[in-house]
Amino acid sequence: MFTTSRGISLVLALAISALTVAFLFLMEDATPTLLVVAGGISFSVSYILINVTLEFLIFKEIANIYSVLEKIQKKDYSAVTDKSDSLSISPLKKINKTINTYAQAKNKEIETLQKNAEFRREFIADISHELKTPIFAAQGYIHTLLDGAVDDKSVRLKFLKRAAKSLNSLDKLVHDLLTLNQMESGEIKFNFEKFDLREMIHEVIEDMEHKASKRQVLIRFFYDKEKTFITHADKDKIFRVCQNLISNAIKYNNDGGEVEVHLKPHKNHITVEVKDNGKGIPPEDIKRIFERFYRVEKSRSREMGGTGLGLAIVKHILEGHKTKISVSSTVGKGSIFSFELPLDKAAMEVPPKAPSTV
Ligand SMILES: Nc1ncnc2c1ncn2[C@@H]1O[C@H](COP(=O)(O)OP(=O)(O)OP(=O)(O)O)[C@@H](O)[C@H]1O
Ligand SMILES: [Mg+2]
Repeated sequence: MFTTSRGISLVLALAISALTVAFLFLMEDATPTLLVVAGGISFSVSYILINVTLEFLIFKEIANIYSVLEKIQKKDYSAVTDKSDSLSISPLKKINKTINTYAQAKNKEIETLQKNAEFRREFIADISHELKTPIFAAQGYIHTLLDGAVDDKSVRLKFLKRAAKSLNSLDKLVHDLLTLNQMESGEIKFNFEKFDLREMIHEVIEDMEHKASKRQVLIRFFYDKEKTFITHADKDKIFRVCQNLISNAIKYNNDGGEVEVHLKPHKNHITVEVKDNGKGIPPEDIKRIFERFYRVEKSRSREMGGTGLGLAIVKHILEGHKTKISVSSTVGKGSIFSFELPLDKAAMEVPPKAPSTV
């Protein structure tokens, strides 16, 4: 009983009224009626004041703190909201507010840790799966050779070539993973320089011609011959971006398909567009193709030697250039991947001729 606000108020009010009556009793002209009235008034006033003070200033705040703690214990962080008045001078309200803020900060921290743990789990599962495929294939060919196939001249070379192809994919996978990791941790530095985007794309297309001709895919390059396409970017990395986009446009095209590369100059930037008339990408997959290891048709992409890391690397490289990749695609019709790079205007201005002297 004495731990409730009413119990404490009752005891304190009784003590105050007893003291008041005792003090008045010492006075000579104090009548019994006066003593009773004074005792009654002092008791009621003290009871009400003490009770209100305890109930509203202390017990209510303590109850709030308990409810917050209970919610934290039940891991119900969402319900923990800050209702306290920030201008309040009550220390209990301040404690309540501090607990609220602390619980919300911890809630965010826990959510981030849970997301990271989930991401790590998924990443390790993906990576193990991806590594397993080429290792398993190379292992199979080598063991078959060791088990006797090495004596058969006709299969020896074929199996060795296949084992080497699997090991090449493994090498590409590890290399791409390292690149991605170094980019994410900021270890890879960007070396910006001025270069001719048109010349660079010609080089990429030349590299790809062989791959495209194997599937009778025609690559066409469109640009305005009157214009210059000098940009300021990391040449090697932009080479890699174009290489992956053009390579994808060939890989995910139909035999006999077409790939168009367009260079479009604007006032301050150049747009690079890689267009194909291949399979296209379903709308539900478009957002996910930039995730590591995400492939629309898993078996087909792997068959083509893809690791599913190409577009993740492209995204990181373009982010490092403060630009981004855009994609639009229609299933059965094809896809368009595009990005922008700054146009170096100084290179467009022809320097005035020096006056000739005799
Ligand atoms: N032009 C495209 N047309 C259709 N699908 C595409 C195209 N480009 C990418 N994709 C889809 O997006 C997926 C991811 O592409 P990404 O370049 O990241 O990986 P990859 O080509 O499979 O492997 P890597 O580029 O590492 O060799 C591909 O597997 C493919 O399913
Ligand atoms: Mg690719």
